[in-house]
Amino acid sequence: MDAYRNITSLRAIRHFTDQPLPPDSLRRILEAGRWTGSAKNTQPWHFIVVQDRHNLNQLAACGRYASHLRGAAVGVVIVTEPDGFGGFDAGRVSQNMMLAAWADGIGSCIATLHDQLCARTILGLPAEKAAWTAISFGYPDPDDPQTIEGQPRQQVLARLGRRDLDEIVHWEKWT
Ligand SMILES: Cc1cc2nc3c(=O)[nH]c(=O)nc-3n(C[C@H](O)[C@H](O)[C@H](O)COP(=O)(O)O)c2cc1C
Repeated sequence: MDAYRNITSLRAIRHFTDQPLPPDSLRRILEAGRWTGSAKNTQPWHFIVVQDRHNLNQLAACGRYASHLRGAAVGVVIVTEPDGFGGFDAGRVSQNMMLAAWADGIGSCIATLHDQLCARTILGLPAEKAAWTAISFGYPDPDDPQTIEGQPRQQVLARLGRRDLDEIVHWEKWT
């Protein structure tokens, strides 16, 4: 798959088969995160790989829409600095990992860990670190019910698909 098609075909996958990830693919996903660029090349991130089903189930309870972690082959938690560019860093790392996975036919979805106390306790996170984002990885279920927390996606999401380019691109100025 070429890079452009990989980017434009990446969709959130929330239902997975039981097939485990080959160690080589997991390694490529983590390497894709490691090679992400950062301000002054500080690389202010750590990745917690969660494969134990009990731990995945516990983590799934830390977000309002995180139940897809229950069925993931692997969850990866992005640990960042709590201030500054933490959210930006987590976003870049996540996208790189998700694109690398997709290139290997592996689906993924972000889970926001809204309940920070829950996440921090389960992960044993030190006070000076933050972890708002976990990513589920696994092979897409061919019988995906296309639901989020059991509800049709369109009832949870702002919209399906993407806004038109004309609606979001401005040339030179806002108006
Ligand atoms: C910052 C961020 C947080 C997200 N949090 C969640 C989440 O908690 N649970 C979930 O199921 N999806 C989550 N998503 C995935 C979005 O719902 C998904 O990217 C969006 O609906 C587009 O999906 P599509 O590419 O399949 O069209 C999140 C995405 C982003 C960028």
